[in-house]
Amino acid sequence: MLYVCVSKNPPDFSEFRKQVEPYIAPHQPFRCKVAYEENIIEEANWKLVVENNRECYHCAGSHPELTYSLTAFAMPDDPRADGFFTELMPRKAKEWEKLSLPHKPVPGGEKFRCIRLPFINDALSMTIDGSLACRRLLGDFEEKDLGSARMFHVPGNWNHFGSDYILHANVTPLSPDRTLLTTKWLVHEDAVEGWDYDVEHLSRVWKATNDQDSTLAANNHLGTKSVGYEPGPYAESEFMLTDFTNWYASMMENYLDEELENA
Ligand SMILES: [Fe+2]
Repeated sequence: MLYVCVSKNPPDFSEFRKQVEPYIAPHQPFRCKVAYEENIIEEANWKLVVENNRECYHCAGSHPELTYSLTAFAMPDDPRADGFFTELMPRKAKEWEKLSLPHKPVPGGEKFRCIRLPFINDALSMTIDGSLACRRLLGDFEEKDLGSARMFHVPGNWNHFGSDYILHANVTPLSPDRTLLTTKWLVHEDAVEGWDYDVEHLSRVWKATNDQDSTLAANNHLGTKSVGYEPGPYAESEFMLTDFTNWYASMMENYLDEELENA
């Protein structure tokens, strides 16, 4: 995974690498291949695409395929968690600790986030029925039930590292009202299509999720253009949106300050 910054004063990258590498390294992305790639253009500003991705309030009502496996909770101690999750989370955490897999949220502030969370419904992977998407597991894994390490880095790069595949997504602004979303599904480099994995089974859940999110983002974008639109505050559980907008606002402030100094 290559991160490129074209700024004359690039931000420090070492903290991100130090914090996140232990979560990702066991999945050995350098031994992966891209099994499938999807590029869709969303009719929305890129910040709305990212905002939509940064909260899962909408998941239960919008993503029936994804929420078979994915929990809507973003933190191990989410105050909204019910008895099922408060039992599941510490049980899985203990299993991962035996495998030396880190899981606690990293202190990424407003710039990045990484955490390992369990799947629900005894799912092993983000597939339509929770079954593995690829029989050849990533890295040197023998355990199938690893949930996923979720990793995000501003401005718009989100990832899931599972036991059998990696989902990598990235947003590219095309114009104020159009955004390219590139999604890649990575499996072990030795996995054989048609034997170890089936592309339709591998990609079905996130392709459906992307389509659903695309509609949500487009509707949000239309809403912001309405004469009745007024921005409102975020809910407490939408802390990732607060982080994102704070990061964006401070970055733009710094940029404007630099421009004024150089004027
Ligand atoms: Fe969504």
